[in-house]
Amino acid sequence: MVDAESFIEEAKAEIREQVGDEEAIIALSGGVDSSVAAALTHEAIGEHLTAVYVDTGLMRKGETDQIEETFAFMDGLRVVHAEERFLGALEGVTDPEEKRHVIGEQFIREFEREATEAGADYLVQGTIYPDRIESEGNIKSHHNVGGLPDVVDFEGIVEPVRDLYKDEVREVARELGLEDIISERMPFPGPGLAVRVIGEVTEEKVEVARHACHVVEEELEEYEPWQAFGAVIGKATGVKGDNRVHGWVVSVRSVESRDGMTARAQEIDWETLQRIQSRITGENDNVARVVYDVTHKPPATIEYE
Ligand code: XMP
Repeated sequence: MVDAESFIEEAKAEIREQVGDEEAIIALSGGVDSSVAAALTHEAIGEHLTAVYVDTGLMRKGETDQIEETFAFMDGLRVVHAEERFLGALEGVTDPEEKRHVIGEQFIREFEREATEAGADYLVQGTIYPDRIESEGNIKSHHNVGGLPDVVDFEGIVEPVRDLYKDEVREVARELGLEDIISERMPFPGPGLAVRVIGEVTEEKVEVARHACHVVEEELEEYEPWQAFGAVIGKATGVKGDNRVHGWVVSVRSVESRDGMTARAQEIDWETLQRIQSRITGENDNVARVVYDVTHKPPATIEYE
């Protein structure tokens, strides 16, 4: 485990040396990795950092407000409302890799505009060690690695947490004094809720997934999962009131892991599972059933797409 205090001093010195008096920009995702990278860089170079948060419409419940609150101390915080542009770009797209690609491209477009406006010379990224390993092995196109951006000609890329594992990043977050909601936050995939709905991304499916993720995170907090969420995996018949309905199927997933590369499905007690089921079906007219995913990684992945 890295010593957080000395890591912070060394990282700041390295950032200062790399960036000097020039301008840097970071894309904040709401997760702990980019938050730590942003906080470290802000401590190192202050107002020379612009932090851009793009609301893709695929974020967790309340995430945008949370970001605005947490990073209110940064003058350079920019919140971009791009929900409609992302949903528009995703219309009709059903292939999982194509979805990731479309999101990555749209993200680059949004970000490039901001980077040009900020006159940024350096790009800061919250890439951590397991991201690099998965990306090198090409297991899947992580949109936060290697995909940003070629039109803006950055002088360099700054990756202050590139050698850390997730638990080490959390340790650094605590040492930096970031709020618990950031330091203890579960990882969330770059493409957001788009990989938690199977097939085409529609506003309705995203809303169901967002609500399910919120319920699951709340109800499973005491299990301290590495990640826990709900995903929309299809449609099935159900009965609501006196009517048969063809509603969404939500799969609940809760896993333990150290780095996301392998994971174990958690054993959850029946009563808790039933409470989750009852909230998700009760609070959403269009959800017909809830299932629990018992598959480890491998053979499954953590996310659904
Ligand atoms: P999988 O689904 O491959 O996920 O078992 C492993 C870990 O990576 C997260 N994940 C992503 N993170 N961009 C990210 O930054 C992505 O495109 C992406 N896809 C998956 C996932 O949530 C899990 O923690």
